[in-house]
Amino acid sequence: MRVACIGSGLIGSGWATYFTLKGLETTLYDIDDDKLDEAVDRIKSNLKFMYCENVIDEREFNRCLERITTTTSMEKAVKDANLIQENGPENYDIKRSIIKNIEKYGKTDAIIASSTSGLLVTEIAKDADYPERIIGAHPYNPVQLIPLVEITKGDKTGDKYIENAVKFYKSIDKEPIVLNKEALGFISNRLALALYREAVEIVERGICSIEEIDKACCFGPGLRYALM
Ligand SMILES: NC(=O)c1ccc[n+]([C@@H]2O[C@H](COP(=O)([O-])OP(=O)(O)OC[C@H]3O[C@@H](n4cnc5c(N)ncnc54)[C@H](O)[C@@H]3O)[C@@H](O)[C@H]2O)c1
Repeated sequence: MRVACIGSGLIGSGWATYFTLKGLETTLYDIDDDKLDEAVDRIKSNLKFMYCENVIDEREFNRCLERITTTTSMEKAVKDANLIQENGPENYDIKRSIIKNIEKYGKTDAIIASSTSGLLVTEIAKDADYPERIIGAHPYNPVQLIPLVEITKGDKTGDKYIENAVKFYKSIDKEPIVLNKEALGFISNRLALALYREAVEIVERGICSIEEIDKACCFGPGLRYALM
């Protein structure tokens, strides 16, 4: 299995860190070498944290770095990839142009999984030649530490690609959940924002201070949610 990360910012480098930790050869693409250098520094820092916490040893640290190839060539990035994780800027035009470029060089049956936090897969896939293999796979930051991946389908996404994506993410110990229909904000951010809205309302009504809100979360439901 070979994976490509298109866009090597916060989320792209997080995915690349995680993929290499799971033993996958990973190609990381961005529009210039400076961005890729920054990404490699971020990946090293992610891995260093795990090394310091005794999650990986020095040999594994080095092996993870060896599994990463960086490139500014889309052809090199995607030509052998079975799963292409798209992590470009949150903008329809840019994501559509990235997909056009991926389709030009990638395998026709590779899964194209967008990390988008808030865009609709149907719209992202609008100009695609093979929209059936375009899915949403929204990670929760930091990607290398948090298991959740929210899988979404667009109007033309094929069930087979959703099933294969779920299998893939499970195989690398992620916890994929599949939405039955497209919804802005997916699930986890909507839940988080519901709590946030209530916190703002409580402070605005003068019921308690921000510090008390923090304590009410950290020493109460926050602990319980972690176990539930
Ligand atoms: N930041 C978060 O907490 C978070 C969480 C989950 C999902 N996401 C989603 O992940 C995606 C990336 O977010 P981010 O926070 O990593 O942004 P970022 O700005 O850190 O990274 C975006 C990267 O895309 C690159 N890029 C720009 N144009 C490109 C192009 N044409 N082709 C390929 N790459 C290009 C940029 O150089 C940059 O490195 C977005 O869709 C965002 O919604 C973000």
